[in-house]
Amino acid sequence: MKKIWNNKRDFIFLQVAIMRELVDILREQQHLDSSSYQALLECNDKSVVAYLHGQAREVGDEVFGKGIFVRGLVELTNVCRNDCLYCGIRKSNTAVERYVLTTEQVLQSCQQGYELGFRTFVLQGGELPRDKAPWLVELVSEIRQRWKDCAITLSLGEWPREVYEALKQAGANRYLLRHESHNAVHYGKLHPDEMSITNRLQCLMWLKELGYQVGTGIMVGSPWQSIDNIVEDIEFIEHFKPEMIGLGPFVPQHDTPLGKYATGSADLTCRLYSIFRLMFPNALIPSTTALNTIDPNGRTMGIMAGANVVMPNLSPVSVRKNYNLYDGKAISNAEAAEGIALLEAQLATIGYHINWNRGDFIFKC
Ligand code: 5AD
Repeated sequence: MKKIWNNKRDFIFLQVAIMRELVDILREQQHLDSSSYQALLECNDKSVVAYLHGQAREVGDEVFGKGIFVRGLVELTNVCRNDCLYCGIRKSNTAVERYVLTTEQVLQSCQQGYELGFRTFVLQGGELPRDKAPWLVELVSEIRQRWKDCAITLSLGEWPREVYEALKQAGANRYLLRHESHNAVHYGKLHPDEMSITNRLQCLMWLKELGYQVGTGIMVGSPWQSIDNIVEDIEFIEHFKPEMIGLGPFVPQHDTPLGKYATGSADLTCRLYSIFRLMFPNALIPSTTALNTIDPNGRTMGIMAGANVVMPNLSPVSVRKNYNLYDGKAISNAEAAEGIALLEAQLATIGYHINWNRGDFIFKC
């Protein structure tokens, strides 16, 4: 029988060529089959990973140029009616000093952000008791009236359809709601019994129907997450077609039941940024604080892998330490809105700059 390859080196060479081919196909067709996604996530050849990032960056540059969008993050509250096992502000965590910003504090944060140049405000927070919905609607409508040219993004968890609708009518444009894990068994291990992936997906569908630009995503490397789970998440996102994709590594928080589990991987997070950039050239993909928390170069690594958004913190300095979703959360310097000059300088080191535009999702022509 004729020998196809002569030695191990030829075999590795062939494998690398196949993996690069997969990246090319993903770029061309914006789709791969599940075993190919798996192969890209598991491949341990550094040149392939570098090629994946490079291709994703090229695609991002084609669509967005060298501009990186900024969104001003206002951490509205750390009060939460939910009890997600990974999250530092879960309701059972008695070690948290709880706060809800006042309307005045939120408006001041936005004002400060507007003066700095931000044109998107992201109101993020724990899930407030349901009777706080009218206050949220009022708040959104106040922000909308004051800053007509700004996008309002909400990241406030699960609510009934009517509340999403009222918030939309009040002037909200976008909603971030990570699905966390599409696999019901895995989702069940990360969340209390009252929560379900079915309800999470229902919320996402409502948001879409209501005309929000929607973001979803996962924590990378959450406890018990397998590569198969991640492939399932990729396929869900492929099918759901969100405008925004939020991914960060799992980072343990010591007061939670999952506080002793291992931190997620920056490498895998960045590979996913690249895969999603190639799947969705126009998507808004933040290089997240969680990534920057586990690696001091996380923000720039994320951008070089295809991310195109950063979300500096506009919250009042006094409450920042209490919004502790996970341990060691980066809260100062370029993570903070006041550190914007530092962020500019960091981006400049990799040839990028801040794009101050609202940066709505670009629909393909
Ligand atoms: N590690 C990383 N990300 C976390 N989040 C919550 N807790 C953690 C943690 N321990 C993420 C969730 C949520 C987003 C607001 O923060 O994915 O959707």
